[in-house]
Amino acid sequence: MLLREELLLNKLEPKQFTFYINVACSLDTIIGSPYKQEIISNIHDWKVVHNLRNESVAIVVGSNTILIDNPTLLTKDQYIENEEVHHPVRVVIDRRGRLTGRENIFQSLDRAPLVIIGNNDKNNLDIEHQNLYCIDVQDTIQSTIILGLKKFGINSGFIMIEGGATTITNFLKEGNIARLRIFRSTKFLIKGIRLFQEDIPINFKLLSVKKLGDGIQEVYQPVLEYSP
Ligand SMILES: NC(=O)c1ccc[n+]([C@@H]2O[C@H](COP(=O)([O-])OP(=O)(O)OC[C@H]3O[C@@H](n4cnc5c(N)ncnc54)[C@H](OP(=O)(O)O)[C@@H]3O)[C@@H](O)[C@H]2O)c1
Repeated sequence: MLLREELLLNKLEPKQFTFYINVACSLDTIIGSPYKQEIISNIHDWKVVHNLRNESVAIVVGSNTILIDNPTLLTKDQYIENEEVHHPVRVVIDRRGRLTGRENIFQSLDRAPLVIIGNNDKNNLDIEHQNLYCIDVQDTIQSTIILGLKKFGINSGFIMIEGGATTITNFLKEGNIARLRIFRSTKFLIKGIRLFQEDIPINFKLLSVKKLGDGIQEVYQPVLEYSP
């Protein structure tokens, strides 16, 4: 299992659900642009990312990522060798109800389920599909994701948080994140959205560093700082 090997998750006790973060950034920690999709990954990173998707039960992004990048969040079969391709459940957090239903993620409902975490009063979606489930935020975002996955009969597995920066920051603050995997390119972008949006009370324990083509893969274990 690439996911367990790359993220050193094989040393963890098995849990019902394991959340981890995967992100690509420039050397100066820019992850994207507020206006258009920015390509940061190289082919080696894409291969890891799609294998991680293949081995995860869900992939989570914030609404801005859908509105800016318009991804399908499916697993690309060209990166998967000797295995049947698996698509994770796509989860989008959209409490302000800005998604219209015309985004690419809605055009692939026959291929993989989609959970929209929102606020029913603000939901503008007029789509009925057995693979679409809209749920209001419950206790926490993490518990809402788990409820959404249970709707599709999923009771355990790895959940990848893919971005953007607001989503990653909020998940780190909520805690319970097993790993942070960063692919860092060697380019400077200077302008754009920075990976860490604010000072988060977290320590990062560096677990591994690996050269991936012209970039670097870093794997961290986030540890919440508890004040006495
Ligand atoms: N390099 C990479 O690996 C990578 C990956 C993905 C995205 N990106 C880039 O990231 C950029 C977008 O990042 P972003 O920070 O602007 O936006 P984002 O994280 O994609 O979306 C932010 C929105 O998601 C909702 N949300 C997400 N998590 C939440 C939480 N835990 N609690 C409450 N609300 C939450 C909020 O909207 P509501 O208030 O409406 O709920 C929030 O305004 C784009 O440029 C994209 O290309 C890069």
